[in-house]
Amino acid sequence: MKRKVLLMGASGSGKTSMRSLIFSNNPASLTERLGATIDVEQNHVRFLGDLILNLWDLGGQDSFMDSYLTTQRTTIFQQVGVMIYVFDVETREMGKDLEYFRDCMASLKQYSPDAAVFLLIHKMDLVREPRHLTFQKKKQELEEASGDTKVNIFGTSIYDESLYKAWSNIVHTLIPNATILSKHLNTFAGACNATEVILFERTTFLVIATSASSPSSPSLTPGSEDNTETEPLNPKRYERTSELIKAFKHSCSRVREEFRSLEMELYDFTAVLDEMTRNTYVLIIVHDPTIETAALKLNIRLARSKFE
Ligand code: GTP
Repeated sequence: MKRKVLLMGASGSGKTSMRSLIFSNNPASLTERLGATIDVEQNHVRFLGDLILNLWDLGGQDSFMDSYLTTQRTTIFQQVGVMIYVFDVETREMGKDLEYFRDCMASLKQYSPDAAVFLLIHKMDLVREPRHLTFQKKKQELEEASGDTKVNIFGTSIYDESLYKAWSNIVHTLIPNATILSKHLNTFAGACNATEVILFERTTFLVIATSASSPSSPSLTPGSEDNTETEPLNPKRYERTSELIKAFKHSCSRVREEFRSLEMELYDFTAVLDEMTRNTYVLIIVHDPTIETAALKLNIRLARSKFE
């Protein structure tokens, strides 16, 4: 199954940078060397089992934008699953950016009315504190420009975990059986007596599903009442884990080692991160010191066939 994803926005807004970070395991510092994208760069990324992301990175220079909206309009905007539109938060040309954005939304509505729309207010690291005020102002501006189309808006930066949060939400909309996966993870969490179980995609380390109800839910796993006295779980833990593991994988590749799995036994919790299927990794968090990591690894092995 192939899902088409458009990555659009003005030239220099950061599209190719985020693609390289998420899909190629490159560090943020390398993005400064990226040249402008000429016309359209198409990539196929095998994501989960049969799911292939057909990612269209569309160069944002005006002449290309004009061509997408005229001669190439049908080709670009038909059969789109998700359109991601990136705005540089510091742009001096918001008027022009919004004009192109409105034209793209109109074309999308005509050729792919069911496509999901994600708007990223990008390079948030450049904004001086308080960032949330700038974000709210931009968000409102974008909602007004979107008219009656439902849009999902995120503030992002390649220098922190916010990019992983946005992209995890994006891929979540593309995975057909996400709710079933969450259900299986809940059962698996119960079997391991785990506080939480998280499923990551192998290459991107984006969160696919969690044993809690949604990828952004900060709540504890249902049925883990005995954990109510521990500290509340950090709401950014999923995207922080994606970011940290990606950085760790990059360090491993620099010393020519392959990342395989991770085990941690700390004072108040145990964590095991291991391969679940060909395309996924699973992270199990347990707050019960009597449970051995070997038992958790055995459980992963036994559950594998269910998740393939
Ligand atoms: P076109 O290919 O011309 O459409 O541009 P693009 O949108 O692909 O931009 P690109 O990814 O090439 O990024 C342009 C510059 O922005 C690069 O120098 C990146 O290092 C920088 N950049 C990307 N993301 C961020 C970010 O989150 N914060 C900051 N400070 N800089 C960023």
